[in-house]
Amino acid sequence: PDITFIEADGEIHAFEAPEGVSLMAAATGAGVPGIVGECGGQLRCATCHVVVDPAWVERLPPPSSDEQAMLALTAAPCEQGSRLSCQVMLTGDMQGLVLRVPASQY
Ligand code: FES
Repeated sequence: PDITFIEADGEIHAFEAPEGVSLMAAATGAGVPGIVGECGGQLRCATCHVVVDPAWVERLPPPSSDEQAMLALTAAPCEQGSRLSCQVMLTGDMQGLVLRVPASQY
């Protein structure tokens, strides 16, 4: 699906990502600055924090309890729509998904 990441400074990264990979893998693969993914998707670092556009929050599968627990450890304050991008797997129905990158991951 075509997805868009918006950096904290407003820079936009829009690209097509394959289905079945995580948002974190898609972002790091496309070189989106600000998505670190230090633990490689093991739910141990919280450096893959993204904020899902309000229009999309209800359309994504909800976070697991483990993801919710790690969301308490993000560097930038957690907000409505905050997710760990390594836990969101891309599917074809996410065409047009928009995400905001927080100002900091550390
Ligand atoms: Fe470490 Fe997502 S990449 S928690």
